[in-house]
Amino acid sequence: MAANPTFQLFSSSQGSGLGLGFLDSPEPALPPPPPPVEVLSSEASSSVDLAVDKVTVGEITLLKGRVSTKEVFGLPNSDLVPGVYEGGLKLWEGSIDLVKALEKESQSGNLSLSGKRVLELGCGHALPGIYACLKGSDSVHFQDFNAEVLRCLTIPNLNANLSDKSSSVSVGETEVRFFGGEWSEVHQVLPLANNDGETNQKGGYDIILMAETIYSISAQKSLYGLIKRCLAYPDGAVYMAAKKYYFGVGGGTRQFLSMIEKDGVLASTLVSEVTDGSSNVREVWKLSYK
Ligand SMILES: C[S@@+](CC[C@H](N)C(=O)[O-])C[C@H]1O[C@@H](n2cnc3c(N)ncnc32)[C@H](O)[C@@H]1O
Repeated sequence: MAANPTFQLFSSSQGSGLGLGFLDSPEPALPPPPPPVEVLSSEASSSVDLAVDKVTVGEITLLKGRVSTKEVFGLPNSDLVPGVYEGGLKLWEGSIDLVKALEKESQSGNLSLSGKRVLELGCGHALPGIYACLKGSDSVHFQDFNAEVLRCLTIPNLNANLSDKSSSVSVGETEVRFFGGEWSEVHQVLPLANNDGETNQKGGYDIILMAETIYSISAQKSLYGLIKRCLAYPDGAVYMAAKKYYFGVGGGTRQFLSMIEKDGVLASTLVSEVTDGSSNVREVWKLSYK
């Protein structure tokens, strides 16, 4: 599997080379975030060649496209460059953990994705969202920080999965749409987000999926604000896969969940824990209204 076991902040050609580039100099001001946009399926890039690998999750086989940061952003091979590129071109372990957890939840009758309105935040390859298509969701909306990731990877990867004869993915009537932008602004273009107040009491998404999105402490508040604007009240649920702790960047499940706990709106339940020795402990959590 191409998912990397460690979480590096910068490429080894930058900063300290230890994934701790921010220790070398004062944190630079981030550039302004890319404006929130909807990216149409027809805008999929034709200039990037998508090589695909198979990813087997239990009994499901999905395809995972391979695109380099050099091809898309002209950047050296980087895990992420804060404020410029947020890691969507790489397949992170959490997205596989999340697909496995969704399969387990479906099989045990705790979750039905059929007919649901689903939002995948920080999608990248979008395997959890593709899984929701496979399970007959009514709509799946995909968000990534970078519109380029949606054009060069997410949409081609979804198309590759849909056209692969050996894959069992068939979207049928599922409506798929794609949205680029920063979490503090992207609600402006998300069709089911509440733009008036905080908690979404009129509509919203039944299920929000996200994998490896809580590494940066500075972005967690806007991510949580977006979740509250988007999550259908009172029955919506968030499935979140992440590491217990992201070395070098400070985020992690405990720290994110303590912010949620203090806010008092959502309750959290541990769905699965992965301790396969390949990295630090990874977890999948379910969040729902109290
Ligand atoms: C580490 S990648 C994970 C990608 C994918 N979910 C996976 O597990 O393979 C983090 C994702 O969160 C999104 N993201 C990170 N910070 C963001 C921010 N401040 N606003 C919007 N999206 C952000 C990025 O676009 C990226 O897709």
